[in-house]
Amino acid sequence: MAKRKTKTPKVPPSLPPVQQGFLSPKRGVPSAITRPPYALSGDPGPSILPLVRTSDEIASMRKAGAIAAEVLLHVGEKVTPGITTDKLDQIAHDEIVRLGAYPSPLNYRGFPKSVCTSVNEVVCHGIPDSRQLQDGDIINIDVTVYYDGVHGDTSVTFYVGDVDDHSKHLVTTTREALYKGMDTVKNGSRVCDIGKAIEKHAHSNQLSVVREFIGHGVGPEFHSALAIPHYYDRRATTELTTGMSFTIEPMLNLGGHILHMWDDTWTVVTTDGRRSAQFEHTLIVTDDGFEIMTKTSSGTIPAEYFAN
Ligand code: MF3
Ligand code: CO
Ligand code: CO
Repeated sequence: MAKRKTKTPKVPPSLPPVQQGFLSPKRGVPSAITRPPYALSGDPGPSILPLVRTSDEIASMRKAGAIAAEVLLHVGEKVTPGITTDKLDQIAHDEIVRLGAYPSPLNYRGFPKSVCTSVNEVVCHGIPDSRQLQDGDIINIDVTVYYDGVHGDTSVTFYVGDVDDHSKHLVTTTREALYKGMDTVKNGSRVCDIGKAIEKHAHSNQLSVVREFIGHGVGPEFHSALAIPHYYDRRATTELTTGMSFTIEPMLNLGGHILHMWDDTWTVVTTDGRRSAQFEHTLIVTDDGFEIMTKTSSGTIPAEYFAN
């Protein structure tokens, strides 16, 4: 008998849709902390800097990446039913500032908080607010910090209490997809190889890939000109070369890939209400592979530390 492909049945989440909560007052950053150029106006301007980092910039990116990873570990430990996403933002904000960094999202194009918290069907750019996490939720916390003149950008999707098997399948497959994308990266590989590997893993696990939001060059600029789609795009022929710095941050969905945005102009949700997960690393291309910038100074990688 032919082996039958096991398909994950499509079961809607049993929890009600995520709704907008209330925002707390703006958090301050001590004046001693160096701000990125857009911090005051909110406008990052056009991307103008080279895609390849100098060795000094790489050293700085290790530091910024380590802070981002340490903050993500710290805030990840606090994820539990009942905590508000605003409280998670406060915990992350305080830790970022304590480590001498600036929370990159704060006032980036007017974003009002210091991290993004994206729950269940929220795909990305969720704004921390008064909503309490519920048993069975999944939440992506996306931490970006500016330190020593560069950004480090990383995210993990966490389980809140007891999570259903479909959501676990979504989260573990999304983490695997990130690593399959990363494994294509080396001097001489092509940008399209990344998305090809991610899409293959998503589709063979009955998940869809978000198309509107992609990985990006990162360094002195939060989002630089290099575009990293997480699906196969044959036009993405750019060759990766040693010293390039960028993120890979696939968002995979249990249902379809069609999205819409809330009228807060930030929160992106799936149109069908099914859940979405995301993981993100900041990488540097090396001669024979890549180096993960977003790991702690002792080498702990949040995406792997919280894996289960
Ligand atoms: N950290 C997000 C990314 O991975 C960007 C957040 S921008 C914000 O690119 F303004 F929403 F914070
Ligand atoms: Co990013
Ligand atoms: Co990010």
